[in-house]
Amino acid sequence: MSPGDKLPPQRLLADAWVLPGYSNPAYREAERRGLTEARVGSGTRVRGSQADEPEFHHLSRAGADSIDLSLSIPMPNPIRAEQLAFCLQQIASQPEITRQSLAYQPEQGNRSQREILAEWMTLHELPVEASELIITEGGQHADYLAMQALIRPGEAVASAALTYPGMIAVARQLGLKHLPVPTDHQGILPDALERLCQQQKIRLLYVMPEYNNPTGEHMSQARREAIVQIARRHDLLILEDGVQYVIAAQRGIPFYRLAPERSLYIFSVSKIIEGGLRFGALRAPSNLIPRLSAALRAQCWSVPGLMGAIACQWLSSGNADTLIDWQWAEVSKRQAILKKELQHYETEAHAYGFHAWLKLPEPWRAVDFVAEAARRGVTLIASDPFCVGSHPAPQAVRICVTPPADTAVFETGIQRLATLLQEGPSHAAPLV
Ligand SMILES: Cc1ncc(COP(=O)(O)O)c(C=O)c1O
Repeated sequence: MSPGDKLPPQRLLADAWVLPGYSNPAYREAERRGLTEARVGSGTRVRGSQADEPEFHHLSRAGADSIDLSLSIPMPNPIRAEQLAFCLQQIASQPEITRQSLAYQPEQGNRSQREILAEWMTLHELPVEASELIITEGGQHADYLAMQALIRPGEAVASAALTYPGMIAVARQLGLKHLPVPTDHQGILPDALERLCQQQKIRLLYVMPEYNNPTGEHMSQARREAIVQIARRHDLLILEDGVQYVIAAQRGIPFYRLAPERSLYIFSVSKIIEGGLRFGALRAPSNLIPRLSAALRAQCWSVPGLMGAIACQWLSSGNADTLIDWQWAEVSKRQAILKKELQHYETEAHAYGFHAWLKLPEPWRAVDFVAEAARRGVTLIASDPFCVGSHPAPQAVRICVTPPADTAVFETGIQRLATLLQEGPSHAAPLV
């Protein structure tokens, strides 16, 4: 069969071979492997080849007629087009800024852009000096840069057992040993981390203290302090991922303020303005800046100045704050909807977080829930891509609250999931 070809309706096969309502295991497996795509009302089709797909496998998963709850992206808003036009006009009307933006940049990043960013971060209660920042092409690049520059192939890094897949990909690409640390409702367990550090040399601990992606756990102050003590005792670097921006009033004290001498902090505008700008920064202790800058120079010489100029114009004009105020009010409304609709089920989420983690009730399996949700027009991600190493995948799914432009559409998606949970999995067990 070729990409786009339609498979025979499962119903026909079921009528011919087995029980009515039977869900064919071959169809389920093909969909799980990404070979086919099921859409409500239009059946199952063969997907395009890898070469036709966008690079992030999950970016192509939601069909046009599906409610996408799979991506952690900023909430759509047409005001961005106006704001971008304003930024570009501002840059084009200032010859010196235009000249600087188009020139080669120093590897640490354009000095005035670092100053604007440091000022903005400090104003938003993330106090930093321009000299501590290295401009990067977004958060993923900052993650890669830190690990490439500071950890050697074969050395060990640790993170929560379920973590951001981009970190898993970096560790794999760089040939690092990536070890999972067990967690509770506050994230990484200090005792488990201590044991791991006693067993072997760990170079770096990756953390998302505000709400872990995907499991949503928030680290208390006491938990952060316990982790800092372990990091000091065993000489660990701490790589704190702040890409999932949380408004200052809802944020704890970042690790880089508790242990500035060993902590790196990742900032990005991807969840604030848009991910396509590819603009972020890595805050690092001053003794590490030369190594990080040298690694960035080897990778790409420097980050494009024009993207930085746009992002800095967006931040300094106050337009980013308008987006932040609007977006986080909407996010908290959607989190409240999710909490209410799924109140009978076990969920973990930050009240201002981009996603929630739903632990599926027995006897649901995550792959079946994702496939059944897709059939009902809702796209989700199961736990597998978040598992470090061979850590077993829990029967849970990540629900992102931001992709739908319309809150009513989001609510419909959540209601469909609530109905699905209430109905339970199809009773027809595969016959062997
Ligand atoms: C926790 C986390 N870190 C890093 C990234 C990547 O950030 P960026 O898009 O700025 O590269 C993401 C993106 O979703 C993320 O969720």
